[in-house]
Amino acid sequence: MAIAYAVTADAPADTEVLGIPVFAGRRVPNTASRALDVDYLAERGFEGKVGQACPLPGRDHTVIAVGVGEAKEVTPEVLRRAAAALVKAAWHDTSVTTTLLDAAPRGLEKGRAAQAIAEGAALASYRFSVYKRDVKPCRIETLTIVGRGAAVKRGVGRGERIAAAVALARDLVNEPAGAMTPRRLAHVAGEIAEREGLTLTVLDEVEIANLGLGGLQGVARGSEEPPRLIELVYEPARGTRSNGRTAKGQVPTLALVGKGITFDSGGLSLKTADGMETMKTDMGGGAAVLAAMSVLSSLKPGVKVVGIVPATENMPSGSAIKPGDVLKIRNGKTVEVLNTDAEGRLVLADGLSLAVEAGADAIVDLATLTGACVVALGRTIAGLMGNDDALIDRLRAAADRSGEPVWHLPLPEEYRKDIDSEVADIKNTGAGRYGGALTAGLFLQEFVGDTPWVHLDIAGPARADSEDGYIAKGGTGFGVRTLVETVLAFAETD
Ligand code: BES
Ligand code: MN
Ligand code: ZN
Repeated sequence: MAIAYAVTADAPADTEVLGIPVFAGRRVPNTASRALDVDYLAERGFEGKVGQACPLPGRDHTVIAVGVGEAKEVTPEVLRRAAAALVKAAWHDTSVTTTLLDAAPRGLEKGRAAQAIAEGAALASYRFSVYKRDVKPCRIETLTIVGRGAAVKRGVGRGERIAAAVALARDLVNEPAGAMTPRRLAHVAGEIAEREGLTLTVLDEVEIANLGLGGLQGVARGSEEPPRLIELVYEPARGTRSNGRTAKGQVPTLALVGKGITFDSGGLSLKTADGMETMKTDMGGGAAVLAAMSVLSSLKPGVKVVGIVPATENMPSGSAIKPGDVLKIRNGKTVEVLNTDAEGRLVLADGLSLAVEAGADAIVDLATLTGACVVALGRTIAGLMGNDDALIDRLRAAADRSGEPVWHLPLPEEYRKDIDSEVADIKNTGAGRYGGALTAGLFLQEFVGDTPWVHLDIAGPARADSEDGYIAKGGTGFGVRTLVETVLAFAETD
Protein backbone atom coordinates (compact mmCIF):
# COMPACT_ATOMS: atom_id res chain seq x y z
CA MET A 1 0.00 0.00 0.00
CA ALA A 2 1.25 3.46 -0.86
CA ILE A 3 1.65 5.97 1.95
CA ALA A 4 -1.13 8.59 2.17
CA TYR A 5 0.08 12.15 2.76
CA ALA A 6 -1.47 14.92 4.80
CA VAL A 7 -0.44 18.51 5.49
CA THR A 8 -1.45 20.03 8.84
CA ALA A 9 -0.41 23.12 10.79
CA ASP A 10 0.29 21.06 13.92
CA ALA A 11 1.28 17.47 14.59
CA PRO A 12 -1.77 15.23 15.20
CA ALA A 13 -1.98 14.27 18.89
CA ASP A 14 -2.27 10.55 18.14
CA THR A 15 0.76 10.16 15.87
CA GLU A 16 2.93 7.13 16.67
CA VAL A 17 6.12 8.71 15.42
CA LEU A 18 7.31 12.28 15.21
CA GLY A 19 10.32 12.82 12.97
CA ILE A 20 12.15 16.07 13.69
CA PRO A 21 15.10 17.51 11.80
CA VAL A 22 18.42 17.87 13.57
CA PHE A 23 21.30 19.86 12.07
CA ALA A 24 24.95 18.93 12.20
CA GLY A 25 26.26 19.21 15.74
CA ARG A 26 22.85 18.04 17.01
CA ARG A 27 21.21 21.46 16.76
CA VAL A 28 17.47 21.68 16.23
CA PRO A 29 15.79 24.39 14.09
CA ASN A 30 14.64 27.50 15.99
CA THR A 31 11.03 26.73 15.15
CA ALA A 32 11.12 23.41 17.02
CA SER A 33 9.86 23.91 20.53
CA ARG A 34 10.79 20.59 22.02
CA ALA A 35 14.00 19.94 23.86
CA LEU A 36 15.81 16.88 22.62
CA ASP A 37 17.90 14.60 24.80
CA VAL A 38 21.11 15.58 23.09
CA ASP A 39 23.27 13.38 25.32
CA TYR A 40 21.19 10.34 24.40
CA LEU A 41 21.74 11.12 20.71
CA ALA A 42 25.46 11.67 21.23
CA GLU A 43 25.81 8.33 23.03
CA ARG A 44 24.29 6.61 20.03
CA GLY A 45 26.64 8.23 17.55
CA PHE A 46 23.98 10.52 16.08
CA GLU A 47 25.68 13.67 14.80
CA GLY A 48 22.96 15.14 12.60
CA LYS A 49 24.48 13.94 9.34
CA VAL A 50 22.21 13.56 6.32
CA GLY A 51 20.89 10.00 6.22
CA GLN A 52 21.13 9.44 9.98
CA ALA A 53 17.99 8.74 12.00
CA CYS A 54 17.84 7.93 15.70
CA PRO A 55 14.68 6.97 17.62
CA LEU A 56 14.18 8.35 21.13
CA PRO A 57 11.51 6.40 22.99
CA GLY A 58 8.92 8.67 24.57
CA ARG A 59 5.72 8.39 26.57
CA ASP A 60 3.13 9.45 23.96
CA HIS A 61 5.04 8.62 20.84
CA THR A 62 8.50 7.85 19.53
CA VAL A 63 10.53 10.86 18.49
CA ILE A 64 12.94 10.17 15.65
CA ALA A 65 15.83 12.59 15.24
CA VAL A 66 16.50 12.95 11.52
CA GLY A 67 19.86 14.32 10.42
CA VAL A 68 19.82 17.15 7.86
CA GLY A 69 23.46 18.30 7.99
CA GLU A 70 24.55 21.93 7.90
CA ALA A 71 21.64 24.41 8.08
CA LYS A 72 22.89 26.46 5.14
CA GLU A 73 23.32 23.38 2.97
CA VAL A 74 19.80 21.98 3.18
CA THR A 75 18.66 21.34 -0.41
CA PRO A 76 15.73 19.35 -1.83
CA GLU A 77 18.11 16.39 -2.15
CA VAL A 78 18.98 16.63 1.56
CA LEU A 79 15.26 16.61 2.38
CA ARG A 80 14.67 13.58 0.12
CA ARG A 81 17.42 11.66 1.87
CA ALA A 82 16.29 12.76 5.32
CA ALA A 83 12.68 11.74 4.62
CA ALA A 84 13.98 8.39 3.36
CA ALA A 85 15.95 7.85 6.58
CA LEU A 86 12.82 8.66 8.59
CA VAL A 87 10.70 6.17 6.64
CA LYS A 88 13.25 3.42 7.17
CA ALA A 89 13.49 4.14 10.89
CA ALA A 90 9.69 4.12 11.19
CA TRP A 91 9.16 1.15 8.82
CA HIS A 92 6.92 -0.85 11.20
CA ASP A 93 4.81 2.06 12.48
CA THR A 94 1.56 3.13 10.83
CA SER A 95 1.22 6.86 11.52
CA VAL A 96 4.19 9.15 11.13
CA THR A 97 4.41 12.92 11.38
CA THR A 98 7.37 15.09 10.47
CA THR A 99 8.47 18.68 10.94
CA LEU A 100 11.21 18.31 8.31
CA LEU A 101 9.90 21.39 6.48
CA ASP A 102 11.27 23.50 9.36
CA ALA A 103 14.77 22.61 8.18
CA ALA A 104 14.29 24.23 4.75
CA PRO A 105 16.32 27.44 4.51
CA ARG A 106 14.59 30.72 3.73
CA GLY A 107 15.74 30.71 0.11
CA LEU A 108 14.19 27.31 -0.65
CA GLU A 109 10.60 27.51 -1.85
CA LYS A 110 8.33 25.63 0.60
CA GLY A 111 6.44 23.87 -2.19
CA ARG A 112 9.68 22.44 -3.58
CA ALA A 113 10.82 21.41 -0.12
CA ALA A 114 7.49 19.68 0.54
CA GLN A 115 7.69 17.93 -2.83
CA ALA A 116 11.17 16.63 -1.98
CA ILE A 117 10.01 15.28 1.40
CA ALA A 118 7.09 13.42 -0.19
CA GLU A 119 9.33 12.07 -2.95
CA GLY A 120 12.01 10.83 -0.58
CA ALA A 121 9.49 9.18 1.74
CA ALA A 122 7.52 7.51 -1.04
CA LEU A 123 10.60 6.28 -2.89
CA ALA A 124 12.17 4.89 0.29
CA SER A 125 9.05 2.82 0.98
CA TYR A 126 9.31 1.10 -2.42
CA ARG A 127 9.85 -2.66 -2.57
CA PHE A 128 9.49 -5.02 -5.54
CA SER A 129 7.79 -8.01 -3.98
CA VAL A 130 5.74 -9.53 -6.82
CA TYR A 131 7.63 -12.82 -6.66
CA LYS A 132 8.55 -12.97 -2.97
CA ARG A 133 6.60 -14.92 -0.39
CA ASP A 134 8.35 -13.52 2.66
CA VAL A 135 7.96 -9.75 2.48
CA LYS A 136 8.03 -7.10 5.14
CA PRO A 137 6.51 -4.10 3.41
CA CYS A 138 6.61 -0.63 4.89
CA ARG A 139 3.65 -0.36 7.27
CA ILE A 140 3.36 3.43 7.25
CA GLU A 141 -0.21 4.34 6.28
CA THR A 142 -0.11 8.10 6.72
CA LEU A 143 2.71 10.57 6.69
CA THR A 144 1.69 13.96 7.99
CA ILE A 145 3.89 16.85 6.96
CA VAL A 146 3.65 19.76 9.37
CA GLY A 147 3.32 22.95 7.34
CA ARG A 148 0.84 25.42 5.94
CA GLY A 149 -0.33 26.92 2.71
CA ALA A 150 -1.49 25.88 -0.71
CA ALA A 151 2.03 25.73 -2.15
CA VAL A 152 3.03 23.10 0.41
CA LYS A 153 -0.08 21.01 -0.35
CA ARG A 154 0.55 21.27 -4.09
CA GLY A 155 4.18 20.34 -3.59
CA VAL A 156 3.27 17.24 -1.61
CA GLY A 157 0.79 16.22 -4.31
CA ARG A 158 3.42 16.70 -7.00
CA GLY A 159 6.01 14.70 -5.06
CA GLU A 160 3.54 11.89 -4.44
CA ARG A 161 2.59 11.62 -8.11
CA ILE A 162 6.15 11.81 -9.38
CA ALA A 163 7.24 9.14 -6.88
CA ALA A 164 4.42 6.89 -8.08
CA ALA A 165 5.73 7.29 -11.62
CA VAL A 166 9.25 6.38 -10.49
CA ALA A 167 7.82 3.30 -8.75
CA LEU A 168 6.12 2.32 -12.00
CA ALA A 169 9.43 2.60 -13.87
CA ARG A 170 11.14 0.50 -11.18
CA ASP A 171 8.42 -2.16 -11.44
CA LEU A 172 8.78 -2.35 -15.22
CA VAL A 173 12.55 -2.75 -14.94
CA ASN A 174 12.39 -5.26 -12.07
CA GLU A 175 9.94 -7.57 -13.84
CA PRO A 176 11.85 -10.48 -15.40
CA ALA A 177 12.42 -10.27 -19.13
CA GLY A 178 10.32 -13.40 -19.56
CA ALA A 179 7.34 -11.42 -18.30
CA MET A 180 8.13 -7.87 -19.45
CA THR A 181 8.22 -8.57 -23.19
CA PRO A 182 7.73 -5.89 -25.87
CA ARG A 183 4.07 -6.92 -26.11
CA ARG A 184 3.63 -6.61 -22.35
CA LEU A 185 5.32 -3.20 -22.38
CA ALA A 186 2.87 -2.11 -25.09
CA HIS A 187 0.02 -3.43 -22.97
CA VAL A 188 1.20 -1.34 -20.00
CA ALA A 189 1.41 1.70 -22.29
CA GLY A 190 -2.21 0.99 -23.24
CA GLU A 191 -3.26 0.99 -19.59
CA ILE A 192 -1.46 4.29 -19.02
CA ALA A 193 -3.10 5.81 -22.11
CA GLU A 194 -6.54 4.77 -20.98
CA ARG A 195 -6.14 5.94 -17.41
CA GLU A 196 -4.47 9.24 -18.29
CA GLY A 197 -6.29 10.11 -21.49
CA LEU A 198 -3.19 9.92 -23.71
CA THR A 199 -3.17 8.93 -27.38
CA LEU A 200 -1.58 5.53 -27.93
CA THR A 201 -0.13 4.08 -31.12
CA VAL A 202 1.46 0.63 -31.13
CA LEU A 203 3.10 -0.66 -34.30
CA ASP A 204 3.40 -4.43 -34.61
CA GLU A 205 6.14 -6.31 -36.48
CA VAL A 206 4.36 -5.99 -39.85
CA GLU A 207 3.85 -2.23 -39.50
CA ILE A 208 7.41 -1.80 -38.26
CA ALA A 209 8.66 -3.46 -41.46
CA ASN A 210 6.24 -1.54 -43.68
CA LEU A 211 7.28 1.80 -42.20
CA GLY A 212 10.94 1.02 -42.80
CA LEU A 213 12.04 0.91 -39.17
CA GLY A 214 15.00 -1.21 -40.24
CA GLY A 215 16.99 -0.82 -37.02
CA LEU A 216 14.20 -2.10 -34.80
CA GLN A 217 13.25 -4.79 -37.31
CA GLY A 218 16.87 -5.91 -37.62
CA VAL A 219 17.51 -6.21 -33.89
CA ALA A 220 14.23 -8.11 -33.45
CA ARG A 221 15.04 -10.68 -36.13
CA GLY A 222 16.73 -13.15 -33.79
CA SER A 223 13.86 -13.24 -31.31
CA GLU A 224 10.70 -15.36 -31.08
CA GLU A 225 9.03 -12.42 -29.35
CA PRO A 226 7.76 -9.82 -31.83
CA PRO A 227 8.90 -6.19 -31.49
CA ARG A 228 6.65 -3.21 -30.81
CA LEU A 229 7.02 0.50 -31.47
CA ILE A 230 5.15 2.29 -28.70
CA GLU A 231 4.08 5.92 -28.93
CA LEU A 232 2.16 7.90 -26.32
CA VAL A 233 1.10 11.51 -26.92
CA TYR A 234 0.10 14.05 -24.29
CA GLU A 235 -1.58 17.22 -25.53
CA PRO A 236 -2.41 20.07 -23.18
CA ALA A 237 -6.10 20.89 -22.96
CA ARG A 238 -7.11 23.88 -25.04
CA GLY A 239 -6.56 27.13 -23.27
CA THR A 240 -3.87 25.63 -21.02
CA ARG A 241 -1.60 28.39 -19.94
CA SER A 242 1.73 28.21 -21.68
CA ASN A 243 4.21 31.02 -21.82
CA GLY A 244 5.67 29.48 -24.89
CA ARG A 245 4.18 29.47 -28.35
CA THR A 246 6.10 28.52 -31.43
CA ALA A 247 6.23 30.80 -34.44
CA LYS A 248 3.06 29.13 -35.69
CA GLY A 249 1.29 29.97 -32.44
CA GLN A 250 1.26 26.36 -31.29
CA VAL A 251 2.50 24.97 -28.01
CA PRO A 252 6.00 23.51 -28.40
CA THR A 253 6.46 19.76 -28.87
CA LEU A 254 8.95 17.81 -26.82
CA ALA A 255 9.81 14.23 -27.81
CA LEU A 256 11.05 11.67 -25.28
CA VAL A 257 12.67 8.56 -26.76
CA GLY A 258 13.56 5.56 -24.56
CA LYS A 259 15.56 2.45 -25.36
CA GLY A 260 13.27 -0.53 -24.87
CA ILE A 261 15.46 -3.63 -25.14
CA THR A 262 13.50 -5.98 -22.88
CA PHE A 263 16.44 -8.38 -22.82
CA ASP A 264 19.92 -7.88 -24.24
CA SER A 265 21.79 -11.15 -24.74
CA GLY A 266 24.10 -9.37 -27.17
CA GLY A 267 22.69 -11.29 -30.14
CA LEU A 268 25.26 -13.28 -32.15
CA SER A 269 27.95 -11.06 -30.57
CA LEU A 270 26.84 -12.88 -27.44
CA LYS A 271 27.55 -11.46 -23.99
CA THR A 272 29.15 -13.53 -21.25
CA ALA A 273 26.93 -15.14 -18.62
CA ASP A 274 27.96 -12.44 -16.14
CA GLY A 275 27.45 -9.72 -18.72
CA MET A 276 23.82 -10.61 -19.35
CA GLU A 277 22.76 -11.26 -15.76
CA THR A 278 21.20 -7.82 -15.38
CA MET A 279 20.15 -7.26 -18.98
CA LYS A 280 16.43 -7.23 -18.22
CA THR A 281 17.32 -3.65 -17.19
CA ASP A 282 18.01 -2.71 -20.81
CA MET A 283 14.56 -1.19 -21.19
CA GLY A 284 15.24 1.26 -18.34
CA GLY A 285 15.14 4.24 -20.71
CA GLY A 286 11.84 3.11 -22.21
CA ALA A 287 10.41 2.50 -18.74
CA ALA A 288 11.39 6.03 -17.69
CA VAL A 289 9.69 7.50 -20.76
CA LEU A 290 6.42 5.57 -20.19
CA ALA A 291 6.49 6.47 -16.49
CA ALA A 292 7.11 10.17 -17.18
CA MET A 293 4.22 10.18 -19.68
CA SER A 294 1.98 8.69 -16.98
CA VAL A 295 2.05 11.82 -14.78
CA LEU A 296 1.61 14.54 -17.38
CA SER A 297 -2.19 14.61 -17.39
CA SER A 298 -2.24 15.37 -13.68
CA LEU A 299 0.58 17.94 -13.79
CA LYS A 300 -0.92 19.59 -16.90
CA PRO A 301 2.13 21.24 -18.49
CA GLY A 302 1.35 23.51 -21.44
CA VAL A 303 3.52 21.61 -23.88
CA LYS A 304 2.85 18.71 -26.24
CA VAL A 305 4.89 15.61 -25.34
CA VAL A 306 5.46 12.62 -27.61
CA GLY A 307 6.90 9.52 -25.91
CA ILE A 308 8.47 6.95 -28.21
CA VAL A 309 9.73 3.51 -27.13
CA PRO A 310 11.16 1.09 -29.68
CA ALA A 311 10.84 -2.26 -27.88
CA THR A 312 12.41 -5.61 -28.72
CA GLU A 313 14.57 -8.39 -27.37
CA ASN A 314 18.12 -8.81 -28.68
CA MET A 315 18.62 -12.56 -29.15
CA PRO A 316 20.89 -14.90 -31.12
CA SER A 317 19.29 -17.46 -33.43
CA GLY A 318 19.36 -18.73 -36.99
CA SER A 319 17.36 -15.73 -38.08
CA ALA A 320 19.38 -13.14 -36.14
CA ILE A 321 21.29 -10.33 -37.89
CA LYS A 322 24.93 -11.16 -38.47
CA PRO A 323 27.99 -9.00 -38.02
CA GLY A 324 28.48 -7.32 -41.39
CA ASP A 325 24.78 -7.07 -42.21
CA VAL A 326 23.49 -3.69 -43.35
CA LEU A 327 20.25 -2.19 -42.05
CA LYS A 328 18.34 0.80 -43.38
CA ILE A 329 16.99 3.16 -40.72
CA ARG A 330 13.69 5.04 -41.02
CA ASN A 331 15.42 8.28 -42.08
CA GLY A 332 17.09 6.50 -45.03
CA LYS A 333 20.61 6.15 -43.62
CA THR A 334 22.25 2.73 -43.86
CA VAL A 335 24.14 1.11 -40.98
CA GLU A 336 26.68 -1.69 -41.10
CA VAL A 337 26.19 -3.81 -37.98
CA LEU A 338 29.63 -4.99 -36.92
CA ASN A 339 28.68 -5.87 -33.37
CA THR A 340 25.14 -7.06 -32.72
CA ASP A 341 25.58 -6.12 -29.04
CA ALA A 342 25.56 -2.43 -30.03
CA GLU A 343 21.81 -2.81 -30.62
CA GLY A 344 20.49 0.10 -28.57
CA ARG A 345 21.67 2.71 -31.05
CA LEU A 346 20.00 0.77 -33.88
CA VAL A 347 16.54 0.89 -32.35
CA LEU A 348 17.06 4.46 -31.09
CA ALA A 349 18.01 5.54 -34.62
CA ASP A 350 14.47 4.65 -35.73
CA GLY A 351 12.97 6.21 -32.61
CA LEU A 352 14.86 9.47 -33.11
CA SER A 353 13.93 9.57 -36.81
CA LEU A 354 10.26 9.26 -35.83
CA ALA A 355 10.66 12.02 -33.23
CA VAL A 356 12.00 14.38 -35.91
CA GLU A 357 9.11 13.42 -38.19
CA ALA A 358 6.65 14.13 -35.37
CA GLY A 359 7.80 17.76 -35.60
CA ALA A 360 9.57 17.83 -32.23
CA ASP A 361 11.06 21.19 -31.21
CA ALA A 362 13.39 19.30 -28.87
CA ILE A 363 14.25 15.64 -28.32
CA VAL A 364 15.54 13.91 -25.20
CA ASP A 365 16.55 10.27 -25.34
CA LEU A 366 17.37 7.94 -22.46
CA ALA A 367 19.22 4.69 -22.91
CA THR A 368 21.22 2.08 -21.03
CA LEU A 369 23.54 2.44 -23.96
CA THR A 370 27.18 1.70 -23.17
CA GLY A 371 29.35 -0.08 -20.63
CA ALA A 372 31.92 2.58 -21.54
CA CYS A 373 29.77 5.25 -19.88
CA VAL A 374 29.81 3.22 -16.66
CA VAL A 375 33.61 3.00 -16.91
CA ALA A 376 33.78 6.78 -17.37
CA LEU A 377 31.29 7.94 -14.74
CA GLY A 378 30.64 5.01 -12.44
CA ARG A 379 27.39 3.45 -11.36
CA THR A 380 25.36 6.46 -10.27
CA ILE A 381 26.09 9.27 -12.73
CA ALA A 382 24.51 9.44 -16.18
CA GLY A 383 26.39 10.72 -19.22
CA LEU A 384 24.75 13.67 -20.94
CA MET A 385 25.50 14.58 -24.57
CA GLY A 386 23.77 16.82 -27.03
CA ASN A 387 23.87 19.15 -30.01
CA ASP A 388 22.34 22.27 -28.45
CA ASP A 389 23.87 24.20 -25.55
CA ALA A 390 20.58 25.70 -24.38
CA LEU A 391 18.87 22.31 -24.22
CA ILE A 392 21.92 20.78 -22.53
CA ASP A 393 21.75 23.49 -19.86
CA ARG A 394 18.05 22.86 -19.38
CA LEU A 395 18.57 19.16 -18.85
CA ARG A 396 21.42 19.78 -16.43
CA ALA A 397 19.26 22.18 -14.44
CA ALA A 398 16.32 19.75 -14.42
CA ALA A 399 18.59 16.89 -13.32
CA ASP A 400 20.02 19.09 -10.59
CA ARG A 401 16.56 19.97 -9.27
CA SER A 402 15.52 16.33 -9.26
CA GLY A 403 18.65 15.03 -7.55
CA GLU A 404 19.63 12.76 -10.44
CA PRO A 405 23.35 13.22 -11.14
CA VAL A 406 24.40 13.77 -14.76
CA TRP A 407 27.71 14.83 -16.30
CA HIS A 408 28.13 16.56 -19.63
CA LEU A 409 30.34 14.64 -22.07
CA PRO A 410 31.50 15.91 -25.49
CA LEU A 411 30.54 14.76 -28.96
CA PRO A 412 33.97 15.31 -30.55
CA GLU A 413 33.94 16.02 -34.27
CA GLU A 414 37.35 14.30 -34.56
CA TYR A 415 35.84 10.97 -33.42
CA ARG A 416 33.14 11.03 -36.06
CA LYS A 417 35.38 9.21 -38.55
CA ASP A 418 35.50 6.26 -36.13
CA ILE A 419 31.98 5.33 -37.21
CA ASP A 420 32.67 5.59 -40.95
CA SER A 421 31.81 2.30 -42.65
CA GLU A 422 33.45 0.51 -45.56
CA VAL A 423 30.12 -0.40 -47.12
CA ALA A 424 27.34 1.69 -45.54
CA ASP A 425 26.72 5.31 -44.43
CA ILE A 426 27.94 4.49 -40.90
CA LYS A 427 28.78 1.49 -38.73
CA ASN A 428 27.46 0.70 -35.29
CA THR A 429 30.77 0.44 -33.42
CA GLY A 430 33.63 2.85 -32.85
CA ALA A 431 37.35 2.17 -33.09
CA GLY A 432 38.22 -0.16 -30.24
CA ARG A 433 36.78 0.28 -26.79
CA TYR A 434 38.02 3.76 -25.93
CA GLY A 435 35.50 6.61 -25.81
CA GLY A 436 32.63 4.20 -26.40
CA ALA A 437 30.00 6.44 -24.80
CA LEU A 438 30.98 9.26 -27.16
CA THR A 439 30.99 7.25 -30.40
CA ALA A 440 27.55 5.94 -29.40
CA GLY A 441 26.41 9.55 -28.93
CA LEU A 442 27.91 10.54 -32.28
CA PHE A 443 26.02 7.65 -33.89
CA LEU A 444 22.69 8.85 -32.46
CA GLN A 445 23.41 12.41 -33.60
CA GLU A 446 23.15 11.17 -37.21
CA PHE A 447 19.40 10.70 -36.73
CA VAL A 448 18.24 13.98 -35.21
CA GLY A 449 19.09 16.37 -38.06
CA ASP A 450 19.00 19.98 -36.83
CA THR A 451 16.54 19.35 -34.02
CA PRO A 452 17.89 20.30 -30.58
CA TRP A 453 18.61 16.99 -28.86
CA VAL A 454 20.03 15.61 -25.63
CA HIS A 455 21.06 12.02 -25.02
CA LEU A 456 21.31 10.55 -21.52
CA ASP A 457 23.36 7.37 -21.21
CA ILE A 458 21.90 5.77 -18.07
CA ALA A 459 23.73 2.41 -18.26
CA GLY A 460 25.15 3.03 -14.76
CA PRO A 461 22.34 4.61 -12.75
CA ALA A 462 19.38 2.65 -14.21
CA ARG A 463 20.20 -0.12 -11.77
CA ALA A 464 21.56 -0.20 -8.23
CA ASP A 465 23.37 -3.21 -6.80
CA SER A 466 22.72 -2.10 -3.25
CA GLU A 467 20.16 -0.05 -1.40
CA ASP A 468 21.08 3.57 -0.71
CA GLY A 469 18.72 6.09 0.88
CA TYR A 470 15.63 6.40 -1.31
CA ILE A 471 17.22 4.27 -4.05
CA ALA A 472 16.19 0.62 -3.87
CA LYS A 473 18.23 -2.35 -5.04
CA GLY A 474 17.43 -3.20 -8.67
CA GLY A 475 15.68 -0.81 -11.05
CA THR A 476 16.03 2.78 -9.85
CA GLY A 477 13.61 4.58 -12.17
CA PHE A 478 16.47 6.95 -13.01
CA GLY A 479 15.46 9.64 -15.47
CA VAL A 480 11.76 9.85 -14.64
CA ARG A 481 12.19 12.86 -12.35
CA THR A 482 14.56 14.65 -14.71
CA LEU A 483 12.17 14.11 -17.62
CA VAL A 484 9.20 15.42 -15.66
CA GLU A 485 11.18 18.46 -14.47
CA THR A 486 12.30 19.09 -18.05
CA VAL A 487 8.74 18.97 -19.37
CA LEU A 488 7.51 21.32 -16.63
CA ALA A 489 10.37 23.77 -17.24
CA PHE A 490 9.81 23.60 -21.00
CA ALA A 491 6.18 24.59 -20.53
CA GLU A 492 7.07 27.48 -18.26
CA THR A 493 9.76 29.22 -20.22
CA ASP A 494 9.58 28.17 -23.82
N1 BES B 1 22.92 -2.69 -22.93
C1 BES B 1 24.32 -2.62 -23.21
C2 BES B 1 25.04 -1.56 -22.36
C3 BES B 1 25.10 -1.79 -20.87
C4 BES B 1 26.23 -2.35 -20.31
C5 BES B 1 24.08 -1.38 -20.05
C6 BES B 1 26.31 -2.53 -18.94
C7 BES B 1 24.15 -1.57 -18.69
C8 BES B 1 25.26 -2.13 -18.13
C9 BES B 1 24.52 -2.26 -24.67
O1 BES B 1 23.58 -2.74 -25.54
C10 BES B 1 25.83 -2.86 -25.07
O2 BES B 1 25.93 -4.05 -25.05
N2 BES B 1 26.80 -2.01 -25.45
C11 BES B 1 28.06 -2.46 -25.86
C12 BES B 1 28.48 -1.64 -27.06
C13 BES B 1 29.71 -2.15 -27.75
C14 BES B 1 29.45 -3.52 -28.34
C15 BES B 1 30.10 -1.17 -28.84
C16 BES B 1 29.04 -2.26 -24.70
O3 BES B 1 28.93 -1.26 -23.98
O4 BES B 1 29.87 -3.14 -24.49
MN1 MN C 1 23.96 -4.69 -26.20
ZN1 ZN D 1 21.71 -3.04 -24.79
